[in-house]
Amino acid sequence: MSSAERAASLLLELEPEEFRVLQAIELGMADYSYVPMEEILRYAGFPQAEVEFRLGELDKKDLIYRQLDPYPGYILNNTGYDILALNALAKGGNLNSLGRSLGVGKEADIYDAITDDGVRVAVKFHRLGRISFRETRKKRDYVSRRSHTPWHYQSRLAAEKEYSVMRQVFQAEVSTPEPLHQNRHALVMGFIDGYNLVDVATLDDPDGFLSDILQNARMTYRAGVIHADLSEYNIVVQKSGEVLLIDWPQAVPTDHPNAENLLRRDIYNVLRYFERKFKLRRDLEEALDYVKS
Ligand SMILES: Nc1ncnc2c1ncn2[C@@H]1O[C@H](COP(=O)(O)OP(=O)(O)OP(=O)(O)O)[C@@H](O)[C@H]1O
Ligand SMILES: [Mg+2]
Repeated sequence: MSSAERAASLLLELEPEEFRVLQAIELGMADYSYVPMEEILRYAGFPQAEVEFRLGELDKKDLIYRQLDPYPGYILNNTGYDILALNALAKGGNLNSLGRSLGVGKEADIYDAITDDGVRVAVKFHRLGRISFRETRKKRDYVSRRSHTPWHYQSRLAAEKEYSVMRQVFQAEVSTPEPLHQNRHALVMGFIDGYNLVDVATLDDPDGFLSDILQNARMTYRAGVIHADLSEYNIVVQKSGEVLLIDWPQAVPTDHPNAENLLRRDIYNVLRYFERKFKLRRDLEEALDYVKS
């Protein structure tokens, strides 16, 4: 079972006190590589015996990780963080149940899901700095307290960024899944029925499809954004045949110092793919002029 699936399956059986202790650890993780007991007590506001009991339960459920040396300290593992995000989304009525995996990658896990209203959505859990706990432990010694950026914070930033960029481009009518909600490292968006361009063997009208991609890149640019990770992996061919751009956490504003190069690379990736796969040739400079016009 994956981390998010395990979190979903534990969601209903977790007690309010356990959530509270998880949240206390989460708060402490902003300042500590491993959160000491005093901090957990302070944030949770429970007596020590209660906190110790709850930590034992959370440990049994494998939601936290405990170090013993040089001092006893705790951090959330992925499932612990997933369950906090799922709980918040579920409480808001924005998520009812998690379905099958739609894609497990290096930096994100994506699941099919249903809202309380029965609407099918997709949930993307960002997983930045996905490293093993053994590595976390090794790193601890040279990550100074002030400069430490915990993995869960990086993942949350990526989700916040992707959500805000998606809102911006979605409002500008770029074809992208509708961004619905975001909590911590989790982003809820409209579910898309389609295939990644890289997995599509043939297209009815490759030339028209390429034009649609460039038109969407142009609308994105007009909205003040450059995708900056555009390729056949982040372009979806919907069942309806329409194009869809996904995966926005690397996006930059058009006034970014490296904007020109990033836009050029995006368009180059797309043109090169169409040339190789569909024997369609378009001039890079002309395409760039069009996108920027
Ligand atoms: N809204 C959605 N509806 C349905 N499937 C989706 C949706 N968003 C993403 N997917 C599927 O999940 C895959 C990964 O999504 P995305 O590209 O956003 O994440 P990623 O960061 O690239 O993850 P990875 O590390 O796997 O590359 C997509 O290629 C697509 O197949
Ligand atoms: Mg992707």
